[in-house]
Amino acid sequence: MGKLMNTLQEHHKELLARVECLTKELEERGGKSPEGLVDFFKKELIPHIEAEEKSVYPEVDRLITKYGKPTATMTLEHQFVKQIISGITESGSSKDEVLKKAQDLLLILNLHTQKEEEVYFPLLRSYLSEKEQEGLLHQMHKSFEVSKGCSDPKCQEQILDVRNMPPPQRHPLIFKTFDETPEGRAFILVNDHDPKPLYYSFLHEREGMFEWEYLEKGPEDWRVKISRK
Ligand SMILES: [Fe+2]
Ligand SMILES: [Fe+2]
Repeated sequence: MGKLMNTLQEHHKELLARVECLTKELEERGGKSPEGLVDFFKKELIPHIEAEEKSVYPEVDRLITKYGKPTATMTLEHQFVKQIISGITESGSSKDEVLKKAQDLLLILNLHTQKEEEVYFPLLRSYLSEKEQEGLLHQMHKSFEVSKGCSDPKCQEQILDVRNMPPPQRHPLIFKTFDETPEGRAFILVNDHDPKPLYYSFLHEREGMFEWEYLEKGPEDWRVKISRK
């Protein structure tokens, strides 16, 4: 690790250690005034975050879209949330421990949802068409059902949504998905028009190998369950 990173990391460590130490001191000494802690926040913590915003963040902004992944920090928070939840669900946690963890979780969730709502949502609202937004919502619902472990077998089927895909790429991907689907299983194709021509291609190219069942027939979206025999 370079000198810059070492220095910043050391600084973080010191800040966290100081907050921990000052908080502990205050807890242990009961009624003693919190001046030391407040003073530390004002003279050390706030200057640190402001300096970071002025110097380090502009450089990170410049590099992240080129070499990094802007949502990586959010995924890291999701992982953190999952860790806390597995801590809560661990057997043997007392009611007080569960409460403490739930409070930590609430604090993180408040900040996390605020970031999504204030930074991400305006981007989606401004730069995606209504249709793209709807598609995203649909995908989100489906992923949610799958992740929830929906007992309805329909939830277990792979969804292939080609609505936002350039038309020339659609058929090759649909055939590829079909060929990768194990026998006896199915996937659900979502399209923005009746995929009748695709049905005839299937009749011709995968004769006797598939079943075709319309789950939704327009007027905006078509959903077809394509099963592999
Ligand atoms: Fe920092
Ligand atoms: Fe999130």
